[in-house]
Amino acid sequence: MKTELTDSPEIAARFIRAGGIVAFPTETVYGLGADVFNEEAVAKIFRAKRRPADNPLIAHVADVSQIARLTVAVPAPARLFIEAFFPGPLTLVLRRSESVPLIATAGLDTIGVRMPRGELAHEFLRECGTPVVAPSANLSGRPSPTNWHTVLEDLDGSVDCILKGEATEIGLESTVVDCTGSTPVVLRSGAVSIEALKEVVPDTRVYRPDDDDVFRSPGMRHRHYAPNAVVVLVDSPDEIAETELAAFIGMDGPERKMDRSLVCGSVEDYARNLFAFFRDCDSAGLRTIYCQAVEETGLGSALMDRLRRAAAR
Ligand code: TXA
Ligand code: MG
Repeated sequence: MKTELTDSPEIAARFIRAGGIVAFPTETVYGLGADVFNEEAVAKIFRAKRRPADNPLIAHVADVSQIARLTVAVPAPARLFIEAFFPGPLTLVLRRSESVPLIATAGLDTIGVRMPRGELAHEFLRECGTPVVAPSANLSGRPSPTNWHTVLEDLDGSVDCILKGEATEIGLESTVVDCTGSTPVVLRSGAVSIEALKEVVPDTRVYRPDDDDVFRSPGMRHRHYAPNAVVVLVDSPDEIAETELAAFIGMDGPERKMDRSLVCGSVEDYARNLFAFFRDCDSAGLRTIYCQAVEETGLGSALMDRLRRAAAR
């Protein structure tokens, strides 16, 4: 298949309406979208990404009115989150309506719903005229794409179209909150922090693996966010042991000369650059990436979550 590159949301949306799959920018990472109600199209996403069929997709909406067709009910806490954080980097897991095909939710009776922020994403979704299910637009297991070049690197020839936008503003995937139980449970941390969620719904809590007999976020089982190089978490660049074919990313500059080194001015900057840095190190054939730990509050919690996953082998 030939992959069309465009910066027009109208052109990109035409592919969705014709049953195709389209990569598009959001404020978090690039997504790979299909019409949620078109089973064939949704199946193409799983094939293109080589994504395991047991990993459910998030439905992206242009406005709040589209949520009604996806869900049977929006409980009170979810409504509060919508008011406070939509559009934005937050996904709410809600009970799915019968009209949502099972393939989109990996057989679950719930569906993740999110309204991305950002003009291009909004225009695109509006033109699609339907909710668009989209995982991150990377090959399964690779770091999520934060610019369109990366999408092309992973998916050229296996998607219909790439909507070219800017590099993404946040660089980490959305916060996922399960709103189907008696209290909201954070399944994946992101730029909407646990502190911010608690301000809106105080009994919101973070999921722990021993919470439940079921694994509530199937995607968390799969290996994620990892470059090919070995990721080593350090508190300070002084802990760097190896400089040959090695890289550093963090907030303090290392004294030793590294093959690649990225010193970030803020946690936001660190988060925004992390996944592209991982890929850059892989293209350069580096073997070790030292990542400096950050304080675990706000966006720092999400960043540390991704760093720990990348470091786990
Ligand atoms: O920022 C984002 O969320 C990006 C952009 C494109 O919106 N999307 C993204 O999708 O990161 P993906 O598929 O790479 O990650 C979705 C995560 C997975 O961990 C998945 O298991 C979880 O959300 N998820 C999706 N639907 C769920 C559901 N119904 N119940 C529990 N977890 C769900
Ligand atoms: Mg992903």
